[in-house]
Amino acid sequence: MQTVGYVYPGIDIEGSVEMKSKVIVALDFSSEQQVMDFVDRLSPDMCGLKVGKELFTKLGPRPVEVLIKKGFSVFLDLKFHDIPNTVERACAAARDLGVWMVNVHALGGADMMQSARIGLGATSDRPLLTAVTVLTSMDSAALSAVGLDATPEELVKRLARLAQSSGVDGVVCSANEVRELTTILGDEFIKVTPGIRPAGVPNNDQKRVMSPSKAIEEGASYLVIGRPITQARDPVGALTQVLEDIAGGV
Ligand code: C5P
Repeated sequence: MQTVGYVYPGIDIEGSVEMKSKVIVALDFSSEQQVMDFVDRLSPDMCGLKVGKELFTKLGPRPVEVLIKKGFSVFLDLKFHDIPNTVERACAAARDLGVWMVNVHALGGADMMQSARIGLGATSDRPLLTAVTVLTSMDSAALSAVGLDATPEELVKRLARLAQSSGVDGVVCSANEVRELTTILGDEFIKVTPGIRPAGVPNNDQKRVMSPSKAIEEGASYLVIGRPITQARDPVGALTQVLEDIAGGV
């Protein structure tokens, strides 16, 4: 088979779904070369990796396969939202790819989330399933405009409950919501939190941010961190600092 684009050096390590860190680095890069240059400086013990819509749409599943073969736990962040049958099949495809975590929009409803779980299978090494409740870009006015007359806070709780009762393993949420969601849904329900900023790092477009150690203290299960690591002058150093912050703060 002809290889197009980045040429991968000999990959012979078996894939692994075991996640060894609480940090998931968002691979928000625009080229395969950038991704591989960055990842080649990391080890799977340091972090998981999040592949989102931009990278996946540009490059397809092959880089995901390579990252998994290198031993990284991959969070496939494609936020599936479709009819139940389509989401079930998409989740089955994600399972076949060997990803560690995949997500859906809770607004797709209980049937869709249950189908997502069916698509992932029932083996002990199946991918974890998380749900996005309310996009952080939506405020009350934006919800009202699409016919949802609830505050984002009310809707987050409602959809998180629905996700849990539909067999979903956890939610993607703001670190500010973690404590209350833990009270309502328990410790075991996974909370994946973006919007993490170590002290002294720009917020970029994130509105409500929290430091890594504080987010873990609040009860976050995993932290998604992008630019503070990927755009740092020394990305590996920035990730190491985050890991030290977590270790020191717990
Ligand atoms: O660079 P930064 O740390 O802000 O990246 C956060 C990552 O988490 C991005 O990939 C972004 O798309 C994702 N994300 C988010 N807020 C959400 C859901 C996902 O920032 N509510």
